[in-house]
Amino acid sequence: MKASQRAASIAPSVTFAIEARVRELREQGLDVIGLGVGQPDFAGPPQAAEAVIAGLAESEGRVGYTAASGTLELREAAAAHVSRVSGCTYSAQDLIVTNGAKEALALALAAAGDPGDTLLLPSVNWLSYAAMAQAYDLKPHDVPVNAENHFKLRAAALDAAAAQTGARLLLLNSPNNPTGAVFSEAELLDIAAVCVARDITVISDEIYWPFVFDGRFVSIASLPGMAERTFVVNGLSKSHAMTGWRVGFLAGHGPALKAAASLKSHLSSNASVAAQWAAQGALASGPEHTANIASAFARRRDLALELLAEIPGLQVDPPQGAFYVFPRVDALYGGEIQGSVAFCQRLLEEQRLAAVPGAAFGENRCIRLSIAVDDATLEQGLARLAAFATALSEARV
Ligand SMILES: Cc1ncc(COP(=O)(O)O)c(C=O)c1O
Repeated sequence: MKASQRAASIAPSVTFAIEARVRELREQGLDVIGLGVGQPDFAGPPQAAEAVIAGLAESEGRVGYTAASGTLELREAAAAHVSRVSGCTYSAQDLIVTNGAKEALALALAAAGDPGDTLLLPSVNWLSYAAMAQAYDLKPHDVPVNAENHFKLRAAALDAAAAQTGARLLLLNSPNNPTGAVFSEAELLDIAAVCVARDITVISDEIYWPFVFDGRFVSIASLPGMAERTFVVNGLSKSHAMTGWRVGFLAGHGPALKAAASLKSHLSSNASVAAQWAAQGALASGPEHTANIASAFARRRDLALELLAEIPGLQVDPPQGAFYVFPRVDALYGGEIQGSVAFCQRLLEEQRLAAVPGAAFGENRCIRLSIAVDDATLEQGLARLAAFATALSEARV
């Protein structure tokens, strides 16, 4: 069967492809260290599983549809949660429970953009945004960001890109995957002023909100003039270590949120009832579980920075948040390794260490390493990277 041009033009997610190769190598009995995938190495809060067990017992096997946007009870709890995190006020009717943050992003793009509209993206960004935009016939347009400024979008660059393209849609992600950058309030105020002046709608991906090592998390939605023009995307995958449950939230106001809810009712109906029970349990469990994960990640970031500092040829910009490091490795390129894809392929085949090429995020000089693994794995992984870098440096002399 022939694929549509639109579908055929979208390559599969690189991180999932790397994970598949890691699985293959492990099935061959090889000892592979995975610093590729962005998944907390913690169990979810026990209250999540308990709520599912209780829900199953109470339902006596009758697990039917819920409202497409999620049960009222969960939407109330989730709206209170997203309000607390973002500093904006959302009620149950301002929020949709989705299948992970990915579905929230897809719905926001579909609800806010018409075919042919331009979506502004920082030129270094998470690999699924552009693919999702293409799936809805939006045109992704990169706004240049650079390493010297921690790859953060600058208001002046946004203004210039909006003027050039006429775009009315922007996607922001802070804390950022892959760069670890976190916008300060002052930086967001400058961006917000451009958005208000140019009538830009923002989709704000806040999935890494608890993981801020320097400074504090600020949502652009909380700034003057922004609540009405921002879709907030959040969820439990990262904050509660619940990736497999697939629970995301889309919050916003006005007709665009209603349109997203209507779309969801046709495209996928409600998030799985079991996942909704789990989410209800997780949200009722309080902040301690998330705080424990955040402090482990902060400690591991320091450990990773200490170990990376000793590796020849690497240049590391300390991440301010999320759970990745994004070192520059281009000083080690040469011979058959002319970019981050070949670098990561050789790293995996020779040292059995999985990392994600920066090229997948628009920055070919870097690789992304996840620090969401236990200390021993992180230490072993970075020792393998050190061995690889040393071998490459020696081969150059
Ligand atoms: C920036 C960013 N947004 C969204 C997602 C998707 O989250 P979920 O697994 O809840 O769909 C990810 C997952 O890696 C991510 O890194």
